[in-house]
Amino acid sequence: MLLVSSLPIGAQTTDDTIRLTPKQHLTIENPADLGKAEAKAIYEDIAAQLARGYAASEQDVVVDYRRWRIFNDTPYRSATHGNRYINNFANGRARSYSRMENAGVMPPGSVLAKDSFTVTEEGKVFGAPLFVMEKLATGASPKTADWRYLMILADGSLFGDSRGQNADQVEFCHSCHTQKADQDYLFFVPREFRLSAEQSE
Ligand code: HEC
Repeated sequence: MLLVSSLPIGAQTTDDTIRLTPKQHLTIENPADLGKAEAKAIYEDIAAQLARGYAASEQDVVVDYRRWRIFNDTPYRSATHGNRYINNFANGRARSYSRMENAGVMPPGSVLAKDSFTVTEEGKVFGAPLFVMEKLATGASPKTADWRYLMILADGSLFGDSRGQNADQVEFCHSCHTQKADQDYLFFVPREFRLSAEQSE
C-alpha cells in the first residue's frame, strides 16, 4: 500500500524565482518517470486522501473539486509546478475550459484546480499542493486580471492566497500566467494528456 506523507511540501520547483523556507522545501532528487497507467494507478490509490488533506484548509471554493470535470486522461508531470504529477479540474462555471485555447474569457465564479503529488524513484509517494485559480468579480483585482491564486499544501495549510494570507508568496503565479494574457491567463492541458470532450463528461 502506498502512503501519502502529510508533510507540507512547498514550492519546490525548477523556477528559482520562487522563495522557499527550509521547512517547506522537500527536494525530490530523483523524481520517478511514470508511465500513464502507473501514474493513474497511484493517483487512484491516493486521490481521496489527498482531497481530505486539502479540505482541512476549509477553502469553500475547492471543497468539492473531486466532483468537478477532469480534463486530463492521466496525471502528468508539470515542470512549471515543481515537477509534480498533476490533474486539471474545472467547476461548472468554468465549463468552457473544455474548449481549451478557444475557451474565451472565463465568467466570475469560475474555478480551476490542480491537485498534485510527487513520486520518488524509490516509489515513495508524497502529497503535494493544490493549485487554484478563481475568477473574481470584474474589477475586483486589477493587478491579477481578476484572477485569485491560491496554493494549499497537502496538510491543508495555506501557502498563499493572492487575496489574503501570504499574498506575496503567490505573486509568482500570475507573473508566469501573464504569458497567456491573450487566452485569459490560462495554459490548458498539454495536448498529449487531453481528454476529448465526451470522455471528460
Ligand atoms: C513558471 C510558470 C508558472 C508558474 C510560476 C505557475 N504556473 Fe500555473 N500553469 C503553468 C502552465 C504551463 C500550466 C499548464 C499545465 C502545466 O503544464 O502545468 C499551468 C496551469 C495552471 C492551472 C490550470 C489552469 C490553466 O492555466 O490551464 C492552475 C489552476 C494553475 N496553473 C495555478 C497556479 C498557481 C496557483 C500558481 C502559483 C502557486 C501557478 N499556477 C504558478 C505555468 C505556471
